[in-house]
Amino acid sequence: MILEVRDVVRRFGGVRAVDGASLDVEEGSITALIGPNGAGKSTLFNVVSGFLRAEHGTVRFEGKRIDRSPAHRIARGGLVRTFQMPRTLARLSVLDNMLLAAQRPERARELLALVRLESHAADYAGVLSGGQRKLLDFARVLMAEPRLVLLDEPMAGVNPALGRQLVEHVLQLRRDAGTTFLFVEHDMDVVMEASDRVVVMSEGRVIASGTPAEIRADERVVDAYLGTSAPV
Ligand SMILES: Nc1ncnc2c1ncn2[C@@H]1O[C@H](COP(=O)(O)OP(=O)(O)O)[C@@H](O)[C@H]1O
Ligand SMILES: [Mg+2]
Repeated sequence: MILEVRDVVRRFGGVRAVDGASLDVEEGSITALIGPNGAGKSTLFNVVSGFLRAEHGTVRFEGKRIDRSPAHRIARGGLVRTFQMPRTLARLSVLDNMLLAAQRPERARELLALVRLESHAADYAGVLSGGQRKLLDFARVLMAEPRLVLLDEPMAGVNPALGRQLVEHVLQLRRDAGTTFLFVEHDMDVVMEASDRVVVMSEGRVIASGTPAEIRADERVVDAYLGTSAPV
């Protein structure tokens, strides 16, 4: 397992955002994290990536405890993440946003071309659309050649054709570089197609995990999330 999350708790005042969540991510896998809004998915990402401290529980990356490590150290160690609301620096150029992650101009140009932002390289990141900012955030985290990438709703607000390419690129990186991905996604077609495993959160806990086919057939999941009319 490249990532082992055990009994993580994180509250905000009286809200138990993550309430004893445990999950494993197998090295080289593409794992989807699904669940209704407010289930605690983004909070769990924040804990795993070091942006929030867990009040209880442990997180191990490649066997080593990281739940007391700051975000920058975790990122340098090879575990990176994108944000549901990307944190691009509006007053820096698109290219400079990329170079903050790593001083590799050629790789930056390559990745910008991949997400169709090469013609915007010199523009302020602040002029990009919401979807383009998500693509920039995606390209940025790949600068450091990470081993585990957490993607928080990478497709939301991205036009479908580019979203399609993003999925292709995830599959290709896994195949060619062995990169592991854990991603939050609401589009069940994408989840079913791209993931090897699916983890389901509800009310701060992991309520099910399995192959896409197992999850689709799991009544607890249908009740908690998919609903009887979900097109899956
Ligand atoms: N910074 C915060 N301050 C207060 N409450 C928060 C904060 N972040 C998340 N929450 C609350 O924690 C719960 C889980 O939120 P979140 O992790 O964003 O869920 P998801 O990503 O699954 O939609 C929600 O009730 C949300 O309102
Ligand atoms: Mg979220």
